[in-house]
Amino acid sequence: MRVNGEWRRTIGLDGDGWTVLVIDQTRLPFVFEQVALRSAEDAAEAIRRMVVRGAPLIGVTAAYGVALALRRDARDVTLDEAIMLLGATRPTAINLRWALERMDRVLRPLSPPERVGRAYAEAAAIAEEDVACCSAIGRHGRVLIEELALAHGRPVQVLTHCNAGWLACVDWGTALAPVYAAHEAGIPVHVWVDETRPRNQGAALTAFELGAHGIPYTLVADNAGGHLMQRRQVDLCLVGSDRTTASGDVANKIGTYLKALAALDNGIPFYVALPSSTIDWSMGDGVHAIPIEERSPREVTHIVGRDVDGLLAEVEIAAPGSHAVNPAFDVTPARLVTGLVTERGITAATREGLRALYPGQAGATP
Ligand code: MRU
Repeated sequence: MRVNGEWRRTIGLDGDGWTVLVIDQTRLPFVFEQVALRSAEDAAEAIRRMVVRGAPLIGVTAAYGVALALRRDARDVTLDEAIMLLGATRPTAINLRWALERMDRVLRPLSPPERVGRAYAEAAAIAEEDVACCSAIGRHGRVLIEELALAHGRPVQVLTHCNAGWLACVDWGTALAPVYAAHEAGIPVHVWVDETRPRNQGAALTAFELGAHGIPYTLVADNAGGHLMQRRQVDLCLVGSDRTTASGDVANKIGTYLKALAALDNGIPFYVALPSSTIDWSMGDGVHAIPIEERSPREVTHIVGRDVDGLLAEVEIAAPGSHAVNPAFDVTPARLVTGLVTERGITAATREGLRALYPGQAGATP
């Protein structure tokens, strides 16, 4: 997507053909800087520190991490170690496991000399497929926005939570892809951007990318969503997903569940956009089974921003010594989800709906 007039992707290869370049998202929106990943350890650290984040981008970065490991040593033991290291970085987004399993499936049968080139090619294929999926999600989801624009005859008011835009993927995004597609088609749209405490992915990343692309948005405190819905200032909630179970339960950034409850109470459609790499076909009940990442309490007691000298600084915001906990995701039960927007189309958040779109997948029992 566009940044300062230039088209960018979140991840790609340097001119040498093997170093992986990613945008350092810990420095956005104030500094736009690429960093180089040269080893599986670099890739794992980038995922752990959230230099890269967002379910699809985590998966692509992990795939490239495997390629970086094999470039040094392509034996089985290195493949095992890289998959173990990268797989242990973040627990909730299923795209990570999905990408690593795919790399393992493709690379394991090959001889070590064949592995390196194939690993880079497979990582690149995963990245390209993600772009294609997100673009298709945009096409399908755009219809929802178009219908609301026709019904209301004014800009459609979309509320989103966290960052599920191009910065969370390779390009386009999941929840924001329909917004970009609508904007490109000349359909007027405005986005309410939840700030998304504690790490503020909405304030820092979603606001940055919508602004860079010229899409009207307004930043709101996380707690404002219910009020806006009661006042009929939201037409549609559109969020992404880190893991969607075979029965349609959705793990996404902490706070998503509360938005879904408010949307139901106010009769506002609540859609979740996701590529099929985010579906965990082995799981039914997401509320009890999806592992929820617990991050450092420091993300709750402290906040990072730009100080008066223009430097990134961390300040304490809680009463000193406060005990804090920091679950990074929550699960929205399928019954609160109006529909799932996938690369194959829009379906009900049900086992039957998902099976109809993906007939080859067995799906877990409830
Ligand atoms: O902790 P993060 O920033 O990796 O969480 C990201 C989200 O929760 C996104 O909404 C989700 O990955 C969907 S992104 C396409």
